[in-house]
Formats: sequence, C-alpha cells, structure tokens
Amino acid sequence: MPDIHNHKILILDFGSQFTQLIARRVREAGVYCEIYACDVAVQAITDFQPRGIILSGGPESVATESRHPVPDVVFDLNVPVLGICYGMQAMAAHFGGEVAPHGKSEFGYATVRARGHSKLLKGIQDQVNDEGHGLLDVWMSHGDRVESLPEGFKLIASTESAPIAGFANEDRKLYALQFHVEVTHTKRGSDIINRFVADVCECNAEWQPAGIVDASIASVKDQVGSDTVLLALSGGVDSSVVAAMLHKAIGSQLVCVFVDNGLLRLGEGDQVMETFAKSLGVRVIRVNAEQEFLDALQGVDDPEQKRKVIGGLFIQIFEREARKLEGVKWLAQGTIYPDVIESAGSATGKAHVIKSHHNVGGLPADMKLSLVEPLRELFKDEVRKVGRELGLPDAMVDRHPFPGPGLGVRILGEVRKEYADTLRLADDIFISELRSHNLYHEVSQAFAVFLPVKSVGVTGDGRRYAHVISLRAVETSDFMTANWAHLPHEFLDQVSRRIINEIDAVARVVYDISGKPPATIEWE
Ligand code: XMP
Repeated sequence: MPDIHNHKILILDFGSQFTQLIARRVREAGVYCEIYACDVAVQAITDFQPRGIILSGGPESVATESRHPVPDVVFDLNVPVLGICYGMQAMAAHFGGEVAPHGKSEFGYATVRARGHSKLLKGIQDQVNDEGHGLLDVWMSHGDRVESLPEGFKLIASTESAPIAGFANEDRKLYALQFHVEVTHTKRGSDIINRFVADVCECNAEWQPAGIVDASIASVKDQVGSDTVLLALSGGVDSSVVAAMLHKAIGSQLVCVFVDNGLLRLGEGDQVMETFAKSLGVRVIRVNAEQEFLDALQGVDDPEQKRKVIGGLFIQIFEREARKLEGVKWLAQGTIYPDVIESAGSATGKAHVIKSHHNVGGLPADMKLSLVEPLRELFKDEVRKVGRELGLPDAMVDRHPFPGPGLGVRILGEVRKEYADTLRLADDIFISELRSHNLYHEVSQAFAVFLPVKSVGVTGDGRRYAHVISLRAVETSDFMTANWAHLPHEFLDQVSRRIINEIDAVARVVYDISGKPPATIEWE
C-alpha cells in the first residue's frame, strides 16, 4: 500500500483568508499537506518533516511592529519554500530585501510578465506578448511591495505596478510570488502550485481517494481492534461517509444511531435507512423522536433557544440509545479538517460567532468513549470524493449542506408539525425542480423557508388565506460570504406555480434576494 503521508507539504498560515485554498490546491496536486499557525512551536515544524513549505498571505504589513516574521527553522530545514503575497514580503524581509507600503493597494486582476526562466514558472503562461515574453493573468491583493531584492535572489516576475512581483534563489529552491496562485482567478495558479510540489519539492502524487480509503480503513482497524464503535448517523455527507468507511473497515462492529427528529426533509429518514441498513447492510438503529422534539420545541420561538433545545435533546436521546448497547468503547465523529483548523485556532485568526452552530454528534459527557475521527484530515471536497470511492450514491454525496437543527431553523418562530409538513413539500418541489433543470449544482445551497404569516390569495375556487414560503438559493465558495443566486425567472415562476397549486397551506411564494453579509444564509 503506498504511504499517502510520505511526501507532505507544510503551509504556514499568516492569517490570509485564502490559506485553506492553498491547502486544497496542494491536495488537488495529489500531495498531503497541513496548515500550521505561523507562531507554532519550532519543534512542531521540524517534527512534521515537510518536503516543502508554503508561506501564506496575511493581513499584516511586514513594515509594522506587529508583523509575524518567518521562523528561522523554515529556512534551516533546507527544503524548498514558496512565499505567497505576505509570505513573499516576509521572505524578502528575512533575507534583507526592502519592503515598503506602496501608498496605493493593488487589488484585482493584473498581468504578470515571467522573467528569468525560473523552474517555477517556466512554460506556464496565458499569453505571449509581441516580444515573445510569457504573460500570466493573475489575482493581486496587497498594500506593501518588495522594493529591492534580497541578496542572492533573482527576479522571476513583474507587473507594471509591482516591478518585483516574484523572486527566487534557485540554488536553495526558495521562491516567492506577490500574486495569489491559490485562487481560481489566477488561471494557471494550480499549474504553478503543481510545479512547486511535483517538480521543485519532488513529491509523488500519492494523495488519491482510493489510497485515502485504504489508509483510513487500515488505521481505523488498528485503532479500534475488535471493539464496538457507535456513530450518530444524520444522513448528512460527513456522517454518511464515516458510516460507509467504518462499515467497510469493521463491518458489524459499527452500530449507527439515527435520530429522526421530525425536522428532516421529505422522505429523508426512509432514504437513510434504505441506503445504509438495506443496501449496505449497516447496523442502524432508527429512533423516531418527532413527537419528543415537537413537545420540547412547543412555545420556543427564539432561534438560539431552538438550536439549544434541538441540540440538547439530540444528545439526551442519543445517550439513551447508546446506554442500551453493550460494550461500546468508541464514538465515531465526522470531524473534518476545517473543523480541526478552526478549533486549533491561530494567533492570527479572529473568528466571530454569529450563530452557535450545532453539529450532530457531541460526545456524551459521562460516557467515557474514545473518539474515532476518520475524516479529520479531509476537506469537504475530499470527503465527497472518498464517499464516491466507497460507493455512496451521488445524490447523497453531492447534497447541499443541511444544518444540524434541520427544518427547526427554517420554520421561523415556533415549530409546529403542520408547518414542518408544509415546508417539506415546498422544499421538495423546489429541490426537485432545481435538479430537473440541471440547476442544483449551479448553486451552493438551496432550500425553502416557512414564514408563519398569512397572506391573501385567490385560487381557481376562491379566496385563500394561508402561509408564505420563501425560496433561498445562494452561491458561495466558503459559506462565510454568499451571493443570492440569479435563478432564471421562468424557473422561479414554475416553482412558485407548483408550490401554490400543489400545497393548499401556501398562498404566496417569495424569493430571497439578500446577500451574506448583511443577511445570513439561513433565516434564523
Ligand atoms: P449561516 O446561516 O450562518 O449559514 O449563514 C452558513 C452555513 O452553515 C449552515 N448552518 C448550520 N449548520 N448547524 C449546522 O450544522 C447550525 O446550527 C447551522 N446554522 C447554519 C447553513 O446551512 C449554511 O450552510
């Protein structure tokens, strides 16, 4: 079995909003990488044994006191280094180059001319100018710029406003670029990252879905031996992939508890049972807890309170079921790499909590279970690839995200069964129309929201006084910011007609045209 962690890249995070994108591009090049905060202990960097290091961008200015310098160990390890944006400036400062505020920030597209025939950029170009020089269309975002090259370094790229837009010391395999190779706006960005990891760092492309599955299965077997593992299966992508992976690794030693809280989408509970219990033969205990959730939510209309009630009750029920089982030693969780990064925190990260996100599967406090987290190293797109590799249906693996509290936060105010039933029907019409118009994958997340206000309508047989459904569809790459999706009017017209014609409890359909910020994606 190939060792998928043998060749790896370390990404030092200086606080750029794009750092995770760097990691995703490296993984797409088939190479394992991890992100460490720029102020991580020196020993951690050495212990990681990277075959190359990438220094991210960041919001700081190299020219100010609060700057984060590059730790010496980065260059002492004698492995190739690529500095991006702030990473380039910090590298310049480290080796005695001059970095200064440019007065005017440069933000947006730029055309870079490659110079000096560097190994990093050679042959990678979007166009050629009249004099035969290769040009690259890139994305820039910086305030400072490098004014003089450090000694021993040569120029490898320049733009009109940044004469030093890239430099290198090819003997020491040190490279730096002012532009962001990790964003898709830089058209050949992936090729440049590929060149760095494959040719400069000489990493083999071992990080592939089949290898990831094999390695994870081996490691789970090793970790749990013949013990029983418990998993809270929600039907979401992450817990589904964990279920499929653990089933393949340990078969009937896996027991899944699926709590149907009555706040799932149309037919979702049955689908989960169909896929896991019936097709794959996984041991799944289904708990029909709709009434318990409805009772607990009665009279609760504050969004945060609803989240707490739903999250708390879930844990209670899950624990209750788990206690009925004998000899369980492990709890499996669908923790993925972005969760690991977030909880590790970083000196430069300044997250702000807008909503308390509740994810299914909190560790029951006094149950003394150890954790199995087979997706800890994976980004979401890798989880999907691994899910496909494990044979899960596309419709399950490619699904839009669904919040832990489910329809509980899509029914505004108090949750009632009849509201949930109405919302389920409307949501199903919207989603199936998106799918049949090939629009489902054009948007990042789409759903219907139930508004408990009544509006007057006139239908064929008279007056209707009923509730309102809002349709929400957004485009986003990270769910931190989002644009409302400009779905075709004819399409929205069709969805609206179907919802009003087919659901008596709805008198009016509206389309949400709020971006995030200032609105959030969910309504509550
Ligand atoms: P917001 O509404 O904060 O949503 O813009 C961003 C993303 O997070 C999802 N979301 C949640 N997921 N528990 C979850 O597991 C929650 O309480 C929750 N609230 C929002 C939301 O669907 C979107 O994808």
